[in-house]
Amino acid sequence: MSKKRYLVTAALPYANGPLHIGHLAGAYLPADIFVRYLRLMGKDVVFVCGSDEHGAAITVKARKEGTTPREVVDKYHAILRDTFQKIGISFDIYHRTSEPLHHETSQDFFRKLFENKEFIEETTEQYYDETVGQFLADRYIVGACPVCANPDAYGDQCEKCGSSLSPTDLIEPKSMLSGSVPVKRPTKHWFLRLDQHEQWLRVWINTGVADHKQLHNASDWKNHVVGQCNSWLDQGLQPRAMTRDLDWGVDVPQEIPGSEGKKLYVWLDAPIGYISATKQWALDHGKAWEPYWKSDDTALIHFIGKDNIVFHCLIFPAILKAHGGFILPENVPANQFLNLEGRKLSTSKNWAVWVHEYCEEVAGQEDVLRYNMIKKMPEQSDSEFTWTGFQETNNNELVNNLANFVNRVLVLNQKYYDGVLPRIDENCLFKSGWNQETEGQYNEELRVLHNKLQEMGAAIERYELREALRILMEISSAGNALLQFNEPWKTVKDDPEMVKVVLNLAVQYVAALSVATRPFMPFSADRLRKMLNLGPLQDNGDLLDVLNELVEGNPIVPAHHALNQPEHLFSRIPDEVIDQQIAKLTQQDAAKMQTESTAAAVETAEINHTPLAPEIQFDDFAKLDLRTGAILTAEKMEKSKKLLKLSVDLGFETRTILSGIAEHFSPEEVVGQQVVIVANLAPRVMMGIDSQGMSLMADAPDGKLSFVSPQQGWMNGRGVK
Ligand code: MF3
Ligand code: ZN
Repeated sequence: MSKKRYLVTAALPYANGPLHIGHLAGAYLPADIFVRYLRLMGKDVVFVCGSDEHGAAITVKARKEGTTPREVVDKYHAILRDTFQKIGISFDIYHRTSEPLHHETSQDFFRKLFENKEFIEETTEQYYDETVGQFLADRYIVGACPVCANPDAYGDQCEKCGSSLSPTDLIEPKSMLSGSVPVKRPTKHWFLRLDQHEQWLRVWINTGVADHKQLHNASDWKNHVVGQCNSWLDQGLQPRAMTRDLDWGVDVPQEIPGSEGKKLYVWLDAPIGYISATKQWALDHGKAWEPYWKSDDTALIHFIGKDNIVFHCLIFPAILKAHGGFILPENVPANQFLNLEGRKLSTSKNWAVWVHEYCEEVAGQEDVLRYNMIKKMPEQSDSEFTWTGFQETNNNELVNNLANFVNRVLVLNQKYYDGVLPRIDENCLFKSGWNQETEGQYNEELRVLHNKLQEMGAAIERYELREALRILMEISSAGNALLQFNEPWKTVKDDPEMVKVVLNLAVQYVAALSVATRPFMPFSADRLRKMLNLGPLQDNGDLLDVLNELVEGNPIVPAHHALNQPEHLFSRIPDEVIDQQIAKLTQQDAAKMQTESTAAAVETAEINHTPLAPEIQFDDFAKLDLRTGAILTAEKMEKSKKLLKLSVDLGFETRTILSGIAEHFSPEEVVGQQVVIVANLAPRVMMGIDSQGMSLMADAPDGKLSFVSPQQGWMNGRGVK
C-alpha cells in the first residue's frame, strides 16, 4: 500500500435489471470495504462506477418488455443507483454510459486506436437473422456451449462454465430475436489486434512486469484470476471485433469511412466508462482526472465477478496500452460466484434475493446483509447463501457477540459511573480478554488492540475480507471475554479500581470497533459513534488516528468523557422473517414458471372469458368472511388424484382444508404459499376428513390455477374486503 493515490472501480452493472446479492458479494461490497478502509487510512482514493447501458443486454430486454432501450436504461439506472445508496455502497460517482461525456470519451479512444493502426478492417461472415433483418452478435444468439454442452449458451459467453465464446463457436445456433436458424452474411468490422498484445500480456500477468518496469507483484493476484488469464493466453489471442451492427450504442466516429450503422462493441465502451466517470467526478469537484489514470504513483484496482476477468485482465489492458499513456491495473481481485439455497443465482429465472426488496422488507438491517455477504464472500471458490445461515449468523455473531458486548459495556458504565468514563490507575492488573491465564495491563492491552486492528487492515490490503471480518469479530469476542473473566458485576464492591480499568478498557474496545466496523457495516459504525457520544467519522484518516494512539498505549476515549445511553445494535431475527423469505423465493420461482406458461397459453389460445354471474347486493358479499393465511403443511391424499390436504395458519387458529389442486401443484410447492381463505364456509366432510374452508384460486384458459394471495409478508388472519 505504497501508492500515492487509488482509483478503485466496481464493474458497471448492466442497466437491464435490479441488483441481486450475487452482484453485491461479487464486486460491490468488496470494493466498498476496500475503499472505506483506504479512506479511514487517510488515502487519496476515488471510487467510480455507473450503469452499463449499451449492448445486447439492454436491447434484448427492451424487446422483451415491448419498450425502448432508453426506457429500460432510465428505469434500471434509477433503481440501481438508489439500491447502491440504500445498502451503503459509497461510490464517489455513479455515472452512466449513455451520457454524452462517455460517448465522446469512448469515441476518442476509438479514434486513437484507429490512428495508432491497432485495428484491422475485415469483412467476415456473421450470423444474420433474415426474419428480422439483423446481424446476431453476442447475446442475440444462443446455442449449445462447445465446452460444457449447456444448451443455453450465448454468442459471447456460456454462463454455465464461464467460457468466453464467439457466435460461430455455438453448436446449433438460434436467433434470440425470432428463434429462427440464422444464415451467414458478410459485414465489415474493426478488429483489435489482440494477437499482437499476447506477448507482453503474458509477461505482465505472470510477472507484473511491463515496459521493463515492475508494476505489481504477480503473487499478489488471486490464483484463479491468473489461471483464467493463462488459459486464454494458452489458446492464443485472436483479433477481436470492436464494432457491431446495431442501432443502440456509441457510434463509430463519423469521419471513419464505413462507420455508418456501426456501433462500438459494448466491451470496448463499458470499461472506458470508468474513465468517463472519473472525468465527471473531477468536473464536479474541481479536480484533475489525469493523475488517477496516467500517473505511475496511482494504483488502479478493478473489483469484478469472475465472468468479467478476461475483459479486465487482458482486453481492457490491451486497449489502454494500445491507446498509450494510461496505467495498467495494479490488481483485479475478482470473486467467484455466490449460490442461493443450492442453486445458481439467476436473474432470468428469478432465483435471486433482490437487494432493493431486501432493504424494504428487512428494513434497518442493511448491515446484517452486508455482514452475511462478507462471511460468505466467494473469494477463492463459489460459496452459498442460505436464509437459515443468514439467521444463525445474525443471532449468533451479530447479536450474541457484537451487540451483546457493546450493550454490556454501555449498560455497566451507566450503572456504575453514570456513563462518565472514570479516571483509572493504569497499573492496576486484571485478567486479559485474550487469555484468562494472563494478567492484563491497561496500556499493554491497548497495544494488543492496535496489533489486531493492524492485522485486520493487512487482511483488507490482501483482499482477504472474510479474514478481516473474522479478526474484527475476534476483537469483540475478546471484549466479551474481558468482562466474563473479570466479572465486574461481582467484583465492583471489593475491587472498584480494577473494575474501573476493565470497563474503561472495554469502552476503548467499543471505540476501536466504532471505527473498524465502518468498512464492513457503515450504518452500525454510525450508531456506535452515537452511543459513545463520539463525533461522526470523517472518512479521512480516522483509523490511522486510532492506530497512532493505540500503538503508544494511549486510550482513544479520555477519562471524564460522557457516554450516551445504549441502544440495541442488532436484534434477533425471528423464524417468521426467514420462513417468509424462503416462501417468497419458492413463490418467485413458481410464479416465473407460471408466467412463462401463461404467456405461452396466451399466444396459442384465443381466450374465451366466462360470462359474468348474476348481480348481487353488497349484503350478499358482506356475508363472506375472507381471511389471509399461509399454508403450513401439504400432503397428498391417498385415494384422490385431485385433493391436497392443507393445514393453513390463520393467525388465530390452524385449519385443515382439502383443496382440489393436486394436479396443479406438488405439496412441496405450496408450503409457505400465502393464500386467501373463505373462512366461514360450512365445514364439509370429504374422504372422511373435515374440510374447514376453501382457498381462493384464479383460473386460466388452459385450466391452470393460481393462488389468490395477499402481498408478500402479509400477516395471517386479516380480513379481505
Ligand atoms: N456490465 C458488465 C456485466 O455486468 C460489466 C461491465 S464492467 C466494465 O457483466 F468494465 F465493462 F465496465
Ligand atoms: Zn459452457
